[in-house]
Amino acid sequence: METIFSTLKINLFDAHLIQQHLLPWYDKNRRVLPWRALPGHKPNVYHVWLSEIMLQQTTVPTVIPYFLNFIRLWPTVHALSEASLDDILHAWQGLGYYARARNLFKCAQEIATLYKGDFPSSESTLLTLPGIGPYTAAAIAAIAFEKNTSPLDGNIERVLSRVYAIDTPLPTSKSLLKNLARHHTPFQRLGDYAQALMDLGSLVCTPKNPTCFVCPLKDFCRAFQKGKAEIYPLKEEASLKPTRTLDAFWIESKSGALLLEKRPHKGLLGGLVMVPIPYLNKNEENLFFKEEALPLKGVVSHTFTHFHLKVRVLKSFIERDNLSLLENQFWCPLAKISEQALPTLMKKIMRHVL
Ligand code: ADE
Repeated sequence: METIFSTLKINLFDAHLIQQHLLPWYDKNRRVLPWRALPGHKPNVYHVWLSEIMLQQTTVPTVIPYFLNFIRLWPTVHALSEASLDDILHAWQGLGYYARARNLFKCAQEIATLYKGDFPSSESTLLTLPGIGPYTAAAIAAIAFEKNTSPLDGNIERVLSRVYAIDTPLPTSKSLLKNLARHHTPFQRLGDYAQALMDLGSLVCTPKNPTCFVCPLKDFCRAFQKGKAEIYPLKEEASLKPTRTLDAFWIESKSGALLLEKRPHKGLLGGLVMVPIPYLNKNEENLFFKEEALPLKGVVSHTFTHFHLKVRVLKSFIERDNLSLLENQFWCPLAKISEQALPTLMKKIMRHVL
């Protein structure tokens, strides 16, 4: 029978080979993480879900304090479902990709109302929930519910690309890697196995300078045997992101307040609080202010998923009464700015000005 493996002339290892070497390594070297159940303990599904959402675009060391703060503020998914979106966005401040925080809230509400507070255990049902894509559904199903499934994150892609020395670059190799992950998925200890691959990817099989000599998979890792673990996974040339240049308006009142606006819920930085940046969402035109403004020297640079942004900051002092505010704008005393849900871009602008 023709399979993706035979088509690509991939010589498969025995399905058990990876788990046999990896699980004993994990038992000795597993990371202690606040969302991870200790050996012999049952995982807390709320913790697993929350951590997986936070970890989607962010590293473990960055996530830990946010995770601890969230479970202190909202110890259960019920508590989170009853929070206000503003408080959640505020606690999310600095983690970036704020759509994740909005979906987190929507998902908590669905769990509370449609599922009486119990997360569904099936991967396909998890996949229907806001903010849960194929990787996260598989990770929650394996880690929290011991389901026979194969989450594939960047770490696991790297480990498998190296073990098999895959000469097709990412992202084209994704479906091959998915098939390899499935081939090696064990029937027991599914949560441990998935997390063992993640830990191996972050502790040993690192993107740069992997420490192959301590790797439990080195005896059969084909990339290691070729002496070039580090070149895998091969990557297709990334397409260049465009750069946009915009103006931000830093408008202070003579009484020491700053003009802020809450961004529209749809679109970039939705629901967060910023100084006005007209045209940040392509069609948005809230240019209301053409008085004298002093451009500050230099620009603030920030990279979003689909473009680089360069922001020139125009600063002015005005009498509050001279400006009629749009519906989503308000004056905030300078000393109280940090109480708002500010994205990293706004913090960069503040550093630039102050
Ligand atoms: N990255 C994403 N999920 C993780 C987990 N459960 N453990 C370690 N690293 C991770």
